[in-house]
Amino acid sequence: MPLVSVHELLEKASEERYAVGAFNANNMEIVQAILEAAELENSPVIMQASQGAIKYAGLEFITGMVKIAAESSPVPVALHLDHGTDFDQVVRCIRSGFTAVMYDGSKLPLEENIAYTKKVLDMARPIGVSVEAELGKIGGTEDNVSVSERDALFTDPEEARYFVEQTGVDCLAIAIGTAHGQYKGEPKLDFERLAQIKSLVDIPLVLHGSSGVPDEAVQKAIQMGICKVNIDTNIREAFVGEMRKVIANNPDEIDPRKILGPARKAAVEIIRKKIRVFGSAGKA
Ligand code: G3H
Ligand code: 13P
Ligand code: ZN
Repeated sequence: MPLVSVHELLEKASEERYAVGAFNANNMEIVQAILEAAELENSPVIMQASQGAIKYAGLEFITGMVKIAAESSPVPVALHLDHGTDFDQVVRCIRSGFTAVMYDGSKLPLEENIAYTKKVLDMARPIGVSVEAELGKIGGTEDNVSVSERDALFTDPEEARYFVEQTGVDCLAIAIGTAHGQYKGEPKLDFERLAQIKSLVDIPLVLHGSSGVPDEAVQKAIQMGICKVNIDTNIREAFVGEMRKVIANNPDEIDPRKILGPARKAAVEIIRKKIRVFGSAGKA
Protein backbone atom coordinates (compact mmCIF):
# COMPACT_ATOMS: atom_id res chain seq x y z
CA MET A 1 0.00 0.00 0.00
CA PRO A 2 1.15 3.63 -0.40
CA LEU A 3 3.01 5.23 2.52
CA VAL A 4 0.67 6.05 5.42
CA SER A 5 0.78 8.99 7.83
CA VAL A 6 2.33 8.60 11.26
CA HIS A 7 -0.71 10.36 12.71
CA GLU A 8 -3.07 7.51 11.85
CA LEU A 9 -0.61 4.88 13.13
CA LEU A 10 -0.16 6.64 16.46
CA GLU A 11 -3.84 7.36 16.94
CA LYS A 12 -4.63 3.63 16.86
CA ALA A 13 -1.58 2.82 19.00
CA SER A 14 -2.66 5.36 21.58
CA GLU A 15 -6.21 3.95 21.73
CA GLU A 16 -5.00 0.36 22.05
CA ARG A 17 -1.97 1.09 24.28
CA TYR A 18 0.88 -0.19 22.18
CA ALA A 19 3.73 1.61 20.43
CA VAL A 20 4.84 1.68 16.82
CA GLY A 21 8.56 1.11 16.32
CA ALA A 22 10.39 3.85 14.45
CA PHE A 23 13.50 2.24 13.04
CA ASN A 24 16.35 4.16 11.43
CA ALA A 25 16.71 3.29 7.76
CA ASN A 26 20.37 3.73 6.89
CA ASN A 27 20.85 1.56 3.80
CA MET A 28 19.00 -0.82 1.51
CA GLU A 29 19.58 -3.91 3.65
CA ILE A 30 18.19 -2.18 6.74
CA VAL A 31 15.12 -0.91 4.84
CA GLN A 32 14.51 -4.49 3.68
CA ALA A 33 15.08 -5.83 7.20
CA ILE A 34 12.58 -3.39 8.74
CA LEU A 35 9.99 -4.35 6.13
CA GLU A 36 10.56 -8.09 6.50
CA ALA A 37 10.31 -7.89 10.30
CA ALA A 38 7.11 -5.84 10.11
CA GLU A 39 5.58 -8.29 7.63
CA LEU A 40 6.57 -11.35 9.66
CA GLU A 41 5.01 -9.75 12.74
CA ASN A 42 2.06 -8.27 10.81
CA SER A 43 2.88 -4.91 12.36
CA PRO A 44 2.67 -1.27 11.29
CA VAL A 45 6.09 0.33 11.11
CA ILE A 46 7.81 3.69 10.79
CA MET A 47 11.01 3.98 8.77
CA GLN A 48 12.92 7.10 9.66
CA ALA A 49 15.80 8.94 8.04
CA SER A 50 18.33 10.69 10.27
CA GLN A 51 20.63 13.51 9.26
CA GLY A 52 23.44 10.98 8.93
CA ALA A 53 21.34 8.68 6.76
CA ILE A 54 20.36 11.50 4.41
CA LYS A 55 23.99 12.55 4.12
CA TYR A 56 25.09 8.96 3.50
CA ALA A 57 22.42 7.61 1.17
CA GLY A 58 20.88 10.79 -0.25
CA LEU A 59 17.29 11.88 0.25
CA GLU A 60 15.99 10.58 -3.08
CA PHE A 61 17.50 7.14 -2.57
CA ILE A 62 15.99 6.80 0.89
CA THR A 63 12.58 7.97 -0.29
CA GLY A 64 12.76 5.67 -3.31
CA MET A 65 13.69 2.61 -1.28
CA VAL A 66 11.07 3.19 1.40
CA LYS A 67 8.32 3.92 -1.14
CA ILE A 68 9.10 0.71 -3.00
CA ALA A 69 9.11 -1.19 0.29
CA ALA A 70 5.74 0.26 1.33
CA GLU A 71 4.05 -0.16 -2.04
CA SER A 72 4.94 -3.82 -2.27
CA SER A 73 3.70 -4.57 1.23
CA PRO A 74 0.41 -5.35 2.95
CA VAL A 75 1.55 -3.73 6.24
CA PRO A 76 1.28 0.04 6.80
CA VAL A 77 4.63 1.82 6.45
CA ALA A 78 5.31 5.51 7.19
CA LEU A 79 8.38 7.53 6.23
CA HIS A 80 9.55 10.03 8.83
CA LEU A 81 12.33 12.62 9.06
CA ASP A 82 14.30 12.08 12.29
CA HIS A 83 15.69 15.14 14.13
CA GLY A 84 15.13 17.71 11.41
CA THR A 85 16.57 21.08 12.39
CA ASP A 86 16.57 22.85 9.04
CA PHE A 87 13.32 24.23 7.64
CA ASP A 88 14.50 23.87 4.03
CA GLN A 89 15.32 20.21 4.60
CA VAL A 90 11.86 19.66 6.08
CA VAL A 91 10.38 21.13 2.88
CA ARG A 92 12.59 18.90 0.70
CA CYS A 93 11.53 15.81 2.65
CA ILE A 94 7.84 16.63 2.33
CA ARG A 95 8.25 17.31 -1.40
CA SER A 96 10.06 14.04 -1.79
CA GLY A 97 7.18 12.08 -0.21
CA PHE A 98 7.83 11.81 3.55
CA THR A 99 4.57 11.32 5.42
CA ALA A 100 5.88 12.71 8.72
CA VAL A 101 8.65 14.99 9.91
CA MET A 102 10.29 15.75 13.22
CA TYR A 103 11.21 19.34 13.78
CA ASP A 104 13.73 19.22 16.63
CA GLY A 105 13.93 22.66 18.17
CA SER A 106 14.95 21.31 21.57
CA LYS A 107 18.20 23.26 21.57
CA LEU A 108 16.36 26.55 20.98
CA PRO A 109 14.78 28.80 23.61
CA LEU A 110 11.18 27.68 24.26
CA GLU A 111 9.45 30.49 22.34
CA GLU A 112 11.69 29.94 19.30
CA ASN A 113 11.03 26.21 19.41
CA ILE A 114 7.30 27.01 19.46
CA ALA A 115 7.58 29.49 16.57
CA TYR A 116 9.54 27.11 14.30
CA THR A 117 7.37 24.12 15.17
CA LYS A 118 4.29 26.18 14.22
CA LYS A 119 5.90 27.20 10.95
CA VAL A 120 6.50 23.54 10.11
CA LEU A 121 2.94 22.64 11.13
CA ASP A 122 1.46 25.42 8.97
CA MET A 123 3.12 23.84 5.98
CA ALA A 124 2.72 20.15 6.84
CA ARG A 125 -0.78 19.85 8.29
CA PRO A 126 -2.80 20.99 5.25
CA ILE A 127 -1.18 18.22 3.19
CA GLY A 128 -1.63 15.51 5.83
CA VAL A 129 2.00 15.26 6.94
CA SER A 130 2.31 14.79 10.69
CA VAL A 131 4.79 16.68 12.84
CA GLU A 132 6.78 15.55 15.87
CA ALA A 133 8.46 18.12 18.11
CA GLU A 134 10.96 17.73 20.96
CA LEU A 135 11.08 19.32 24.36
CA GLY A 136 13.90 18.71 26.82
CA LYS A 137 17.33 17.36 26.04
CA ILE A 138 17.86 13.74 25.09
CA GLY A 139 21.57 13.84 25.72
CA GLY A 140 24.27 11.56 27.12
CA THR A 141 23.56 8.80 29.63
CA GLU A 142 22.02 10.10 32.80
CA ASP A 143 24.37 8.27 35.19
CA ASN A 144 25.54 10.62 37.89
CA VAL A 145 23.09 13.32 36.87
CA SER A 146 22.00 15.33 39.90
CA VAL A 147 18.40 16.28 40.63
CA SER A 148 18.97 19.88 39.55
CA GLU A 149 20.67 18.75 36.33
CA ARG A 150 17.73 16.42 35.72
CA ASP A 151 15.32 19.30 36.06
CA ALA A 152 17.35 21.34 33.61
CA LEU A 153 17.68 18.58 31.01
CA PHE A 154 14.48 16.58 31.28
CA THR A 155 11.15 17.72 29.89
CA ASP A 156 9.29 20.02 32.23
CA PRO A 157 5.63 18.86 32.40
CA GLU A 158 4.20 22.36 32.65
CA GLU A 159 6.33 23.50 29.73
CA ALA A 160 5.09 20.48 27.74
CA ARG A 161 1.49 21.49 28.41
CA TYR A 162 2.19 25.08 27.29
CA PHE A 163 4.14 23.89 24.21
CA VAL A 164 1.36 21.59 23.01
CA GLU A 165 -1.31 24.19 23.69
CA GLN A 166 0.62 26.82 21.72
CA THR A 167 1.62 24.64 18.77
CA GLY A 168 -1.05 21.93 18.44
CA VAL A 169 1.75 19.56 17.38
CA ASP A 170 0.82 15.94 16.51
CA CYS A 171 3.26 14.14 18.82
CA LEU A 172 5.99 15.10 21.26
CA ALA A 173 9.40 13.59 22.00
CA ILE A 174 10.20 13.91 25.68
CA ALA A 175 13.39 13.62 27.72
CA ILE A 176 12.83 11.30 30.68
CA GLY A 177 16.24 9.68 31.04
CA THR A 178 17.01 8.06 27.71
CA ALA A 179 20.02 8.91 25.55
CA HIS A 180 21.10 8.22 21.99
CA GLY A 181 23.72 5.53 21.41
CA GLN A 182 25.12 2.85 23.69
CA TYR A 183 24.53 3.21 27.44
CA LYS A 184 27.38 2.84 29.90
CA GLY A 185 25.08 1.69 32.70
CA GLU A 186 21.39 0.76 32.80
CA PRO A 187 19.22 3.76 31.97
CA LYS A 188 16.60 4.65 34.60
CA LEU A 189 13.50 6.30 33.28
CA ASP A 190 11.73 9.04 35.22
CA PHE A 191 8.24 7.48 35.22
CA GLU A 192 6.87 10.06 37.61
CA ARG A 193 7.73 12.79 35.11
CA LEU A 194 6.16 10.75 32.31
CA ALA A 195 2.94 10.43 34.33
CA GLN A 196 2.89 14.18 35.00
CA ILE A 197 3.47 14.99 31.33
CA LYS A 198 0.76 12.56 30.21
CA SER A 199 -1.73 14.04 32.68
CA LEU A 200 -1.21 17.48 31.11
CA VAL A 201 -0.70 16.60 27.45
CA ASP A 202 -3.21 14.62 25.44
CA ILE A 203 -1.14 13.65 22.38
CA PRO A 204 1.02 10.59 21.61
CA LEU A 205 4.46 10.80 23.25
CA VAL A 206 7.70 9.62 21.68
CA LEU A 207 10.68 7.87 23.29
CA HIS A 208 14.07 8.45 21.64
CA GLY A 209 17.30 6.67 22.50
CA SER A 210 15.37 3.49 23.23
CA SER A 211 18.13 0.99 22.33
CA GLY A 212 19.47 -0.56 25.52
CA VAL A 213 16.48 0.42 27.65
CA PRO A 214 15.26 -2.75 29.41
CA ASP A 215 12.16 -4.25 27.77
CA GLU A 216 10.08 -3.96 30.96
CA ALA A 217 10.88 -0.24 31.24
CA VAL A 218 9.90 0.35 27.61
CA GLN A 219 6.66 -1.58 28.14
CA LYS A 220 5.85 0.40 31.27
CA ALA A 221 6.48 3.66 29.38
CA ILE A 222 4.14 2.44 26.62
CA GLN A 223 1.42 1.72 29.16
CA MET A 224 1.90 5.29 30.40
CA GLY A 225 1.49 7.01 27.03
CA ILE A 226 4.55 6.43 24.82
CA CYS A 227 3.24 5.53 21.34
CA LYS A 228 6.38 5.77 19.16
CA VAL A 229 9.66 4.15 20.16
CA ASN A 230 12.84 5.06 18.24
CA ILE A 231 15.49 2.40 17.69
CA ASP A 232 18.73 2.76 15.80
CA THR A 233 21.73 1.62 17.87
CA ASN A 234 20.43 -1.92 18.50
CA ILE A 235 20.07 -2.44 14.74
CA ARG A 236 23.59 -1.14 14.13
CA GLU A 237 24.94 -3.51 16.79
CA ALA A 238 23.17 -6.54 15.30
CA PHE A 239 24.02 -5.64 11.71
CA VAL A 240 27.70 -4.82 12.19
CA GLY A 241 28.15 -7.60 14.76
CA GLU A 242 27.06 -10.14 12.15
CA MET A 243 29.26 -8.59 9.47
CA ARG A 244 32.25 -8.87 11.81
CA LYS A 245 31.43 -12.50 12.51
CA VAL A 246 31.12 -13.43 8.83
CA ILE A 247 34.35 -11.65 7.95
CA ALA A 248 36.21 -13.26 10.85
CA ASN A 249 35.01 -16.72 9.80
CA ASN A 250 35.59 -16.09 6.07
CA PRO A 251 38.56 -13.73 5.82
CA ASP A 252 38.87 -14.31 2.05
CA GLU A 253 35.24 -13.45 1.25
CA ILE A 254 35.05 -10.60 -1.25
CA ASP A 255 31.35 -10.80 -2.19
CA PRO A 256 29.59 -8.03 -0.21
CA ARG A 257 26.28 -9.88 -0.56
CA LYS A 258 27.66 -12.80 1.43
CA ILE A 259 28.49 -10.38 4.25
CA LEU A 260 25.50 -8.04 4.07
CA GLY A 261 22.95 -10.84 3.60
CA PRO A 262 23.58 -12.41 7.03
CA ALA A 263 23.76 -8.89 8.54
CA ARG A 264 20.30 -8.17 7.12
CA LYS A 265 19.01 -11.39 8.69
CA ALA A 266 20.42 -10.38 12.09
CA ALA A 267 18.69 -7.00 11.74
CA VAL A 268 15.37 -8.73 10.97
CA GLU A 269 15.63 -10.73 14.19
CA ILE A 270 16.32 -7.76 16.49
CA ILE A 271 13.56 -5.68 14.85
CA ARG A 272 11.05 -8.54 15.25
CA LYS A 273 11.94 -8.75 18.94
CA LYS A 274 11.41 -5.01 19.38
CA ILE A 275 8.06 -5.13 17.57
CA ARG A 276 6.88 -7.84 19.98
CA VAL A 277 8.09 -5.85 23.00
CA PHE A 278 6.25 -2.75 21.75
CA GLY A 279 3.00 -4.73 21.40
CA SER A 280 2.42 -3.81 17.75
CA ALA A 281 2.64 -7.38 16.43
CA GLY A 282 -0.65 -8.30 14.77
CA LYS A 283 -1.78 -4.65 14.63
CA ALA A 284 -1.21 -4.05 10.89
O1 G3H B 1 18.93 10.11 16.47
C1 G3H B 1 19.93 9.90 15.86
C2 G3H B 1 20.22 8.61 15.17
O2 G3H B 1 20.12 7.51 16.02
C3 G3H B 1 21.59 8.60 14.57
O3 G3H B 1 21.78 9.69 13.81
O4 G3H B 1 22.41 8.65 11.62
O5 G3H B 1 22.77 11.08 12.09
O6 G3H B 1 24.21 9.33 13.18
P1 G3H B 1 22.88 9.68 12.60
P1 13P C 1 19.12 4.88 19.63
O1 13P C 1 20.16 4.90 18.56
O2 13P C 1 19.71 5.13 20.98
O3 13P C 1 18.27 3.68 19.54
O4 13P C 1 18.17 6.15 19.36
C1 13P C 1 17.47 6.25 18.17
C2 13P C 1 16.76 7.55 18.07
O5 13P C 1 16.31 8.12 19.04
C3 13P C 1 16.57 8.10 16.74
O6 13P C 1 15.90 9.33 16.77
ZN1 ZN D 1 16.39 10.50 18.47
